[in-house]
Amino acid sequence: MTQQDTQTPLIDLRDISISFGGIKAVDQASVDLFPGEVVALLGHNGAGKSTLIKILSGAYKRDAGDIYVRGEKATIANPRDAKDYGIETIYQTLALADNVDAAANLFLGRELLTRWGTLDDVGMEAEARKVMGRLNPNFQRFKDPVKQLSGGQRQSVAIARAILFNARILIMDEPTAALGPQETAQVGELIKQLKKDGIGIFLISHDIEDVFDLADRVAVMKNGQMVGSAKTGDVTKDEVLGMIILGKCPPGAIPGPGAIQE
Ligand SMILES: Nc1ncnc2c1ncn2[C@@H]1O[C@H](COP(=O)(O)OP(=O)(O)O)[C@@H](O)[C@H]1O
Ligand SMILES: [Mg+2]
Repeated sequence: MTQQDTQTPLIDLRDISISFGGIKAVDQASVDLFPGEVVALLGHNGAGKSTLIKILSGAYKRDAGDIYVRGEKATIANPRDAKDYGIETIYQTLALADNVDAAANLFLGRELLTRWGTLDDVGMEAEARKVMGRLNPNFQRFKDPVKQLSGGQRQSVAIARAILFNARILIMDEPTAALGPQETAQVGELIKQLKKDGIGIFLISHDIEDVFDLADRVAVMKNGQMVGSAKTGDVTKDEVLGMIILGKCPPGAIPGPGAIQE
């Protein structure tokens, strides 16, 4: 791997706005993400988290604001553009093909072929073992259809697929919502491994415990606006709850336009 530039944000969203029928779903929201960093996006239902992230993933077209990728202004008008910038979203549903194995899922839609034009199953399994071995060394179930895998294992297949597509920025929307404690821990391990590889992660989560375990920073939204952001080490869980519920920005956080003035 080439030397990482850790000074320039992988992603810098600046003053992003979008309205739906006159309602400002996202209102001049700014947030950045550095290599190897996990930034948790927090806020009540309807705060604008998913909408902001859908603008980054090219699913929605913003009304205003700029997106910088590695310091350069990016043109993201559709999901294809986002993928070209190395931005991948891991959806809650994981979008896996349930009846085929991990390798087939990793190469779905861009299968490796032998020089005779037949499917290169041996090559694909070897690649799958390589990627999965790095992400989740305990994973052994290469021959099973993914529907037989645990939630955590399925998650690692979905992430391995993104990594194989050269993702450098992952968006994870509630990755542990449907998982038990043991599997949640497994996803935590996965995230730690991705961080080591310099991948940046936007994590949407409702679980404040998970957030404090996994995230380096939090960014809190309320009514489409950014209340503020903070390193998880600089704020308490109660203070973050105060940001979410009241829009109150504690001393350890950097206030955004949505912070209430006291
Ligand atoms: N496609 C859409 N059409 C109309 N309104 C939308 C659409 N997507 C989101 N919204 C509205 O934008 C606001 C922010 O929603 P969302 O981004 O889903 O919040 P969150 O993910 O924080 O729960 C909400 O008021 C929601 O109803
Ligand atoms: Mg949402």
